Amino acid sequence: MLKFPKDFAWGAATSGPQSEGNFHKPNQNVFDYWYEKDPDAFYDGVGPDTASNFYNDYKKDIPLMAKAGIRSLRTSIQWTRLMADVDKGIVDEDGVEFYNNVIDCLLDNGIEPYINLFHFDLPIDLYKKYGGWESKHVTDLFADYAEKCFELFGSKVKNWFTFNEPKVILDGEYLYQFHYPLKVDGPAAVQVAYNINLASAKAVARFKKWRKENNSDAKIGTILNLTPAYPATNDPEDVAAAEFATLWDDNMYLDPAVKGHFPEKLVKILDDANVLFDSTPEELKIIADNTIDVLGVNFYHPERVMRPSVSPDSLQDWMPDIYFDNYEMPGRVMNVDKGWEIYPKTLYDIAINIRDNYGNLPWFVSENGMGVSHEERYLDDKGVVQDDYRIKFIKDHLTELHRGIEAGSNCHGFFVWTGIDCWSWKNAYRNRYGLIRNDIHTQTKTIKKSGQWYAKLSENNGF
Ligand code: BG6
Repeated sequence: MLKFPKDFAWGAATSGPQSEGNFHKPNQNVFDYWYEKDPDAFYDGVGPDTASNFYNDYKKDIPLMAKAGIRSLRTSIQWTRLMADVDKGIVDEDGVEFYNNVIDCLLDNGIEPYINLFHFDLPIDLYKKYGGWESKHVTDLFADYAEKCFELFGSKVKNWFTFNEPKVILDGEYLYQFHYPLKVDGPAAVQVAYNINLASAKAVARFKKWRKENNSDAKIGTILNLTPAYPATNDPEDVAAAEFATLWDDNMYLDPAVKGHFPEKLVKILDDANVLFDSTPEELKIIADNTIDVLGVNFYHPERVMRPSVSPDSLQDWMPDIYFDNYEMPGRVMNVDKGWEIYPKTLYDIAINIRDNYGNLPWFVSENGMGVSHEERYLDDKGVVQDDYRIKFIKDHLTELHRGIEAGSNCHGFFVWTGIDCWSWKNAYRNRYGLIRNDIHTQTKTIKKSGQWYAKLSENNGF
């Protein structure tokens, strides 16, 4: 039996925009806006309007999650629900009441709330007015919003997070056109990465001030999808490609958040290419002074890369692709539905990297899970999804995580993505990840076989 450390947090993760639905929301975020403009951009034309109906169903959903062994829930506050006016920072009373009720309901059900402040859901007004994360003004507005959240909910929430997966904001919105505004602009992506790091540090600064004034023992962190890049071969060109990919995808966020500065090698590469972000000494000091207490790591699949096939000179505009190509390793194990490689050992490698290169910072797995389409294929005659594949996926990842913990890595929790099947951006309900099935036509929610298994896992603190 693999036993996990005492007080290990067995959780699940979701986000406000993916679970709540839009009910009574005073503002639109980029996804609400994009869906209204172009519903066909979303799988099966299903948008964020109903999601898994958590706004109306939280009183039923939360006890159901508790039944599936979920002892901590990571979700996010929607900026566009909490604020009546996102620009002036005026709160919406219905939004405040809703989040207060959710947090109370979680605590009443013995579930620890882990609250994230930004999960891809930029208020569209801040995009239209200021250019979203391209604008430094938005970093101040974000810090104001974050501070409001600490003031409103800080007495009950012990675990705060600033951002979920900044890398996906760059990839989706500025490089590879899978999230609105569908731009292709490498230099703008570099500035956005810098601005998000700055916004996160500004929010951490507000938090630390609030924590001191309120004598709180709460913690703050950020959530990064770390997918260390493995080179295709030991050839120096492949190794250099992997080094850049890791700097670009991971260290660009991990280093400022934990060490307080950007990796020198990456800064030099960007500077040599004339695309270095605009920064001031005052901003860099905010980043240096406001590192995180705890790190959330989302992990689904490894990244494998090789030397780039394009020559830098053939490209007119700078893109990170000039330094590496993706590599499909022959014989790799795939989650065919999702198109992602399954390679649990990366979780061990991440654990060791944090132990050795990031001061053995406290961390936890803030997302890990298996997306499968058409899960109705696996329903038994009692209406329970027999998702043995998901149990195996989680077990295999936990085995590698356990190895990392045994080797001394300071990991204190595992959050499966997700509790109840939820809506996912462009993919809508294409891939189901939940421990609990959600029939989106009837909003009927039923614990899957994996949820029954997770309940035992969390009760036994191991398997
Ligand atoms: C993570 C995100 O990257 O992946 C989640 O934080 C997302 O918001 C999850 O839902 C799974 O992605 P997808 O597109 O397969 O649903």
